[in-house]
Amino acid sequence: MKRILIATHNPGKLKEFAVLLAPLGVEAISAGQLGLPEPEETGASFAANARIKALHAMRASGQMALADDSGLCVAALNGAPGILSSRYGAGDYPAAFQRIIAAAQAANEWRARFVCALCLAHPDGTTATYIGQSDGVIAPAPSGGAGFGYDPIFIPFGHDKTYAELGAAVKDQISHRARAFAQLAARLQGK
Ligand code: IMP
Repeated sequence: MKRILIATHNPGKLKEFAVLLAPLGVEAISAGQLGLPEPEETGASFAANARIKALHAMRASGQMALADDSGLCVAALNGAPGILSSRYGAGDYPAAFQRIIAAAQAANEWRARFVCALCLAHPDGTTATYIGQSDGVIAPAPSGGAGFGYDPIFIPFGHDKTYAELGAAVKDQISHRARAFAQLAARLQGK
């Protein structure tokens, strides 16, 4: 069985990747489980940060490593919070939702995009990066209880409900993460 080191210290993220990789005959272990240090995310893009994390984990372990970086880009905020999504509003999501909705309202510009970059680093130092995007609009008010992060304020194109209302069954078909992962899976399966 192939083994890939997931460059995360988040047990939830490890589990998510383990579920996605199992059908491909790939076992997932995490940087956290191996006690590897976390690098500084100093990149200026999702792809750059995913690459920093994947290379750091590969070099620390000598094993093939996979990292992701994701976030929400809001048109009315010129693409913010973007790579700073997890820190925007200092973890106070209700406050962050209100800031984003107010900016969209003021600019009358509701478009937004979730982005996910996945980077696979091989022991020889080569990397492959896969980007998935999910386009939509900011909701006029937060709604729904499923998911995490900005799911309550994001309505994907083709739907009239937020990710937090649509739930995993819909989100996992169309999300930025699902789209990036589909590209990685195709590569791992040699398609
Ligand atoms: P990270 O990729 O785990 O660093 O996540 C970045 C941040 O982007 C998360 O903490 C969330 O705030 C936001 N984010 C990324 N993907 C999603 C998503 O699918 N739904 C809601 N928020 C997300």
